[in-house]
Amino acid sequence: MRFWATCLSALALGRAAFAVSNNLTTDVTWDPFSLSILGQRIFLHSGEFHPWRLPSRSLWKDIMQKAAAGGLNGVSLYAHLGLMNPAPGVLDFDGLRSMEDAILEAQAAGLWVTARIGPYVNGETTGGGLPGWMMSLNATLRTNDATYTQAWTPYWTAMAKILAKHQITAGGPVILVQVENEFDNVRTTPATYMVLLEQSLRSNGVVVPTTHNNKGLRDITYAAGTGAVDIWGIDSYPGNGCASSWSAVVTNYNDFKNTSGNPTLPLYSPEFVGGWFDPWGSTGNYAACRAKIGPEFERVFYEALWAQNAKMINFYMYYGGTNWGGLAAPVVYTSYDYGAAIPENRVIGDKFNELKLLGLFIRSARDFRQTSFAPEVTTLTSSADVTTAEMRNAQTGATFYLLRHTTSQSTATVSTTLKITTKDGAFTIPQTSGSQITLLGHDSRAIVADYQFGATRVLYSTAAVLLGTTIDGVDWLVVHGYPQADAGYEVVFAGVTGRLHDDDSQYYCESPTSSPPFGALLMHDSICQAGLLANFRITAGGRALLSVGSVRLLALDTTVARTFWAPVLPASSGTFKQFAEVGSNATIIVAGPALVRTAAITNKVLALTGDTNRTTTLQVYGGSNLFSSVTWNGAQVSGGLDTIGAWSATLDGPSSAALSFVPPTLAAWKFKDSLPEISTTYNDSRWVTASKTSTFLTMPAYPRDTSALLGEQDYGFFTGNVLFRGHFTSTGKETGVFLGINGGQAFAASAWLNGVYLGSTTSFNSTDSDVKNVTLSFPSGALRSGDNVVTVLKDNMGLNEWSGPSGIKQARGIVGFQVQGGANSTWKIQGNFGGNTNFPDKVRGSLNEGGLFAERAGWHLPGFDDSTWESRTPVQGLTKPGVGFFRTTFDLSVPSGHDVAMSFVFRGGGATRVQLYVNGWQMGKYVANLGPQTVFPVHEGILDYHGKNTVAVSLWAVGNSTTDFAISDLQLKVDAVLRGGVIVQVANPVWSARDVF
Ligand code: GAL
Repeated sequence: MRFWATCLSALALGRAAFAVSNNLTTDVTWDPFSLSILGQRIFLHSGEFHPWRLPSRSLWKDIMQKAAAGGLNGVSLYAHLGLMNPAPGVLDFDGLRSMEDAILEAQAAGLWVTARIGPYVNGETTGGGLPGWMMSLNATLRTNDATYTQAWTPYWTAMAKILAKHQITAGGPVILVQVENEFDNVRTTPATYMVLLEQSLRSNGVVVPTTHNNKGLRDITYAAGTGAVDIWGIDSYPGNGCASSWSAVVTNYNDFKNTSGNPTLPLYSPEFVGGWFDPWGSTGNYAACRAKIGPEFERVFYEALWAQNAKMINFYMYYGGTNWGGLAAPVVYTSYDYGAAIPENRVIGDKFNELKLLGLFIRSARDFRQTSFAPEVTTLTSSADVTTAEMRNAQTGATFYLLRHTTSQSTATVSTTLKITTKDGAFTIPQTSGSQITLLGHDSRAIVADYQFGATRVLYSTAAVLLGTTIDGVDWLVVHGYPQADAGYEVVFAGVTGRLHDDDSQYYCESPTSSPPFGALLMHDSICQAGLLANFRITAGGRALLSVGSVRLLALDTTVARTFWAPVLPASSGTFKQFAEVGSNATIIVAGPALVRTAAITNKVLALTGDTNRTTTLQVYGGSNLFSSVTWNGAQVSGGLDTIGAWSATLDGPSSAALSFVPPTLAAWKFKDSLPEISTTYNDSRWVTASKTSTFLTMPAYPRDTSALLGEQDYGFFTGNVLFRGHFTSTGKETGVFLGINGGQAFAASAWLNGVYLGSTTSFNSTDSDVKNVTLSFPSGALRSGDNVVTVLKDNMGLNEWSGPSGIKQARGIVGFQVQGGANSTWKIQGNFGGNTNFPDKVRGSLNEGGLFAERAGWHLPGFDDSTWESRTPVQGLTKPGVGFFRTTFDLSVPSGHDVAMSFVFRGGGATRVQLYVNGWQMGKYVANLGPQTVFPVHEGILDYHGKNTVAVSLWAVGNSTTDFAISDLQLKVDAVLRGGVIVQVANPVWSARDVF
């Protein structure tokens, strides 16, 4: 079946002339222009999503549907080895760790998958995805070291089998598999490690092309058989991140690709700036970052990347999500929102919608896929302040002029004319005397010439094209522009005679009026005479629909265009029937709703699904003969043609009950002390005894008063809070203790002697050290005769990402310890219950809990009976340095049929470190004196919107001042209310007794 489909589509669309395959499959091929899938050339337009950063799994569907609705045709998925392989011999691909489920959701939404499976991924996650147990190996990580090879093989083999099952040759969406990440970091030649990884993929059945994400413009190309993958690409984060100032676009990717020996490959950007992450202690915020790397930035930088001839682009991140539990590396706090197109709370806005405009254009601009690189020049523009690339498709003649400021950061408003060369001759456009193309501040414009869609050729359009498509035999061109930009936009259809008119067959060219005759468009009579079909001004908020022959021109204010959607209409059959282009070329133009997720026409019923954020006018453009009724989220809606000929109906916004929904105030808190370990009577006999005298962790040469080493990874503790108890026998002469403590940047530690508080230390932010040295004096009277115990509580902010082979293996724990003036100490260690091998919570996984007593006992879980606990709130807090645990429960009854985004909002506190547990999931670390995060989005699924919820916080007063002892507020707030959403299932396993010690 598929063989024929392949041949037919290749015949119909012209198989890429010099397509190269990896000799294992021809389902995915490439040439210097682009990828081809099943013989069809595609522009891979993809977004990065880490499913494991969205633990409410039902919502993976939401992200995938948004990506497809946003005009993307692919997703790129990092897998997390550390989560999936928490201990040697333990592989867990279930639940939130399921790559398979993520792939199936991508497939359902019609998205191709690039699987980026490590073993090392970076990604600002703990250990860059490598688990703590690998750091204790006698091995150099990320090399062909035999011990390391043995360590990754079980995960890699199992993952390869999953991918083989879901690759395109088996009817799945996986088209590319990335081997390693930024291997430049560990470059060796030959790269036998890369060869081993690739061979293992092949021997486990993966046949699709392998890829690699090169760290920027650094040459890591290898000869065949020495580490080469099929397609490598360049990652790049230009523009100056979240900082408000812009830096320039990069203009030498294409040169680099060609000169570094790979002119036969398409230009691939496996990671292109979709936002940036924010560190502990920053003064930034993701909302500001989303505005900076926002609509204007997307247009300028993404079109500049097109000008470099990139035809395979993945935006990192498209949805960032949450570093819940111990997922973060120390470089980032709980939120991994990233300022991405889809915010952490999943409520989309202008950034998403601008990228949608670019995505829908690229999806429909088929001829762009085979355009050649042409250097950006100022010779075609009348203004030297405007630069353009002239990218021509040699086969079809279609040409794309990508205009931007010559100084790409410029905020000046500049106007220019443009010399274009078309099949019908050369023109300087706009042709209307005195008219110009205007870039407004940070702006860029893609201008098409000889742009073919359906049976129609657009000679040129100075307005940006949203899409050109054929609906029920009628060719539709949708264009948009800013009203403040060009005084007159021009769209010229080639070979079309007649005059544009509206649905009443009124010809408007003949009688120019001072007011726009039909909404947005003002026709210039002189242009009509000259044979131009449309010259129009776009009015604010305007939309206008014109016809000439069988062509429709819909012209929109760009801000109106952002409310437009073009969902794929799935074909009636075919394995990939829901995939744009390869499976279906059919689309329908829908405007109005905050989101249009899916569309399908069966038995003359147009079924649309999506979300509304207010009472909304739904408009469907074209295809009105294809359907006789319309449903929205399954319910019939009645409507009819509006004044400009769109089928229109009114959709309900959120119900008033949903809009007025207020979550309950968090009250009725219960409290219990969570630091029994500081007591002299605490029995630590079942704790792990520190007995290692050698280590393969990176352990600095600090003073230590015994040979035992206290690197916590060596004892199976990789995440969260870890407790240490050091015993020594006093001679009465001991004066204090020296401690060198490593918890990663932004960690803290507190110490007690025999229950008496000694002091604390904090690494303040991402530029501070990850190890802190302190000498704490013993207060008089604290020493006892006989056994004395120093208890140290420290947290682990995550394992380091790659910072050289020894940097990633940096020991967390107590790296130096010496009782001043005293004898040797012996140490016991305790971290999360069961460590990395026997952790009890298989659903939430190995990184959810740390080693606080409360966590070990499971007090954070729903169903634990706290009825005997004292009533006390986190605002009342503690009375001294230490750790308290607070619990409360409340019912939620959120009106159904809505997607209600909620966040927990903290206020106040000093040196106060709080972990937020929601129905057993550790959803945030609030560090009051570091910040900056105070708002913690928690999704439905983690919260039960129709039942009882348990919220718990651990509150660690790291200092001795009363401001450290409490926070001033914690509440649950509504961020946004939409009618719609996807169905969310809740799976929050409850407490069962643990043999805690
Ligand atoms: C890239 C890396 C990603 C991520 C990104 C920054 O270089 O490949 O994993 O760390 O930087 O967010």
